[in-house]
Order: sequence, then C-alpha cells, then structure tokens
Amino acid sequence: MKTILVTGGAGFIGSNFVRYWYENYPDDKIIVLDTLNYAGRFQNIPAMIHKDADRFEFFLGSVLSVEIVNTLVERSDIIVHFAAETHVTRSIYESRHFFEVDVLGTHTIANAVLKYCDTVERFIHVSTSEVYGTAITRPMTEDHPLNSCSPYASAKSGADRLVYSYYYTYGVPAVILRPFNQYGPYQHLEKVIPRFITSALRDIPLTVHGNGYAMRDWLYVDDTCGRIAAAIKAPVDKVACYPRPEMDPCIGGNRTHLAVSVVMKLSGY
Ligand SMILES: NC(=O)c1ccc[n+]([C@@H]2O[C@H](COP(=O)([O-])OP(=O)(O)OC[C@H]3O[C@@H](n4cnc5c(N)ncnc54)[C@H](O)[C@@H]3O)[C@@H](O)[C@H]2O)c1
Repeated sequence: MKTILVTGGAGFIGSNFVRYWYENYPDDKIIVLDTLNYAGRFQNIPAMIHKDADRFEFFLGSVLSVEIVNTLVERSDIIVHFAAETHVTRSIYESRHFFEVDVLGTHTIANAVLKYCDTVERFIHVSTSEVYGTAITRPMTEDHPLNSCSPYASAKSGADRLVYSYYYTYGVPAVILRPFNQYGPYQHLEKVIPRFITSALRDIPLTVHGNGYAMRDWLYVDDTCGRIAAAIKAPVDKVACYPRPEMDPCIGGNRTHLAVSVVMKLSGY
C-alpha cells in the first residue's frame, strides 16, 4: 500500500485525479491538502471517497505552511503537486498572490521532498504548457523555449525551474509535466469551455479575445490523469526531469483548435 499526497486535490484536475487514483489503485491511501479557494470545492471529491476514512484524508491548509507540508510529505510515498492559483485573467490583477502560492508554495513542497528524500519515491510537479508562451515552432515540444507571457505563466515557469533545480542540485525524484489546456467535469465556470457552455445555455453572446484565430490544444482531463499515473509508475530513470530523451513532459492531445472553432462547435455550427 502506498500513500499519495495530492495538493490542490479539490480543484478541477486534482479532484479528477483523486477519483482516478481511488478507482484504479484500490490498495493506496490518498491524502489531499487544499485551501479550498474559490476554485476548490470539497464537493468536487465524490462523497463515496471522502467517507472512506481508511483510504482518504482531507487537510484544509496551504502549501505555504511549512509545518503542515512537512507533516504530510513525511507520511507520503508519492507527491502530486497541483495546488496553484490558475486563472490567467486574475493573475493580471493580483499577481503577487500567484507568485506566493505558485512559486513559494512549490518551494515549500520541494523542500519537504528533499527533507524526506529517503522515503518519497516520486514527486510529480504539475507545470503547464503556458510556460512556452506563444508558439515559435509547431507542434510545441519540450525543446520549445520558455517564454511565459502572463503573470500566471511566469509564476508557473518559476515553479517549474525551481523543481528542476532541486532535481539537478539535490537529486530529488521529481518529474515535471506540462499539460496543455484541459476540459472536463468540475472545472470552474471562469475557464473558457465551461464559460462558453453556460453562456450559450443562457443565450449570452460568446466572446473571444483577439481575432479568434489563437490555437489551443485540448485534452480531456481523464486522459491527463492517466498520463500522470504513467509518470508515477514508470521507472524513475525513464522519467526523471527533462532533458531525458525517453520522456515527454508535454501532455497534449495533438488536436489544436482555433478559439473561434470551439465557439462554433459549442454553438452547434
Ligand atoms: N486547467 C488547465 O487547463 C491546466 C493546464 C495545464 C496545467 N494546469 C495546472 O494544473 C494544476 C491544477 O489546475 P486546475 O485547473 O485544476 O486548477 P484549479 O484552480 O481548478 O484548482 C487549484 C486547486 O488548488 C487549490 N489551492 C490554491 N492555493 C492553494 C494553497 N495555497 N494551498 C493548497 N491548495 C491551494 C485550490 O483551492 C484548488 O482546489 C495547476 O498547477 C495548473 O497550473 C492546469
């Protein structure tokens, strides 16, 4: 039996991952650490799971708290770090909080992993394809330069490189994953696909930024959970931090869509 610590496990991807792990690894115990900000909801985790006290524990707290993070990492074999402030538009207006949570929160987690390096088997840091900024080459691969364009993306770039430095300097068993855009259940309504759907249902015009020709790669969240699980289960020398030829830290579906075509599909055109 393994114990897996999931930070941000009440958010969109985190709660889907908790459900995925609970169903697919029935011998394992799951610990969630989450502050329950506006995007995190305890109800995102199915009642069947949070009632299962033998296999599930929830801690209301912040990844910025050294004490709580150390206590939970000490008890865990695997860490999957999702917790972050995640909304690009919000980051434009309140960026300090993004740097605190996304960078310093990751620093707290990475330090705890280092402290308990003898027992932690794998540290998955969930970064984002946003660290690449606007595509210079297509498809974007992990060789693409980091060129983050928003405060959110910059904070995530800082966290991404911080984790890499802990792998490089101290040899922590870190794997950095950079998923492309996600969609699926429990995503907050501020994000583009839920917002388009709810607006369309209410007959509110769907607006896109720019000319609508921005392209995005979309992946269903369950597929991402499967890829995170694969990064946990693979031999560490095959997946430990980039650059490694065998690994693919970008998680995408290779199905890019124009913003305007997403609007048209959701509107039934
Ligand atoms: N959604 C996407 O399309 C996407 C794509 C690539 C990468 N990511 C990354 O995946 C991760 C999860 O994204 P999401 O879409 O599920 O985000 P989300 O905003 O839905 O969930 C984030 C979760 O983190 C929690 N949280 C925030 N601050 C915290 C803190 N200080 N301590 C503990 N918990 C805290 C929130 O309460 C929430 O439950 C993030 O790191 C994000 O950068 C998301």
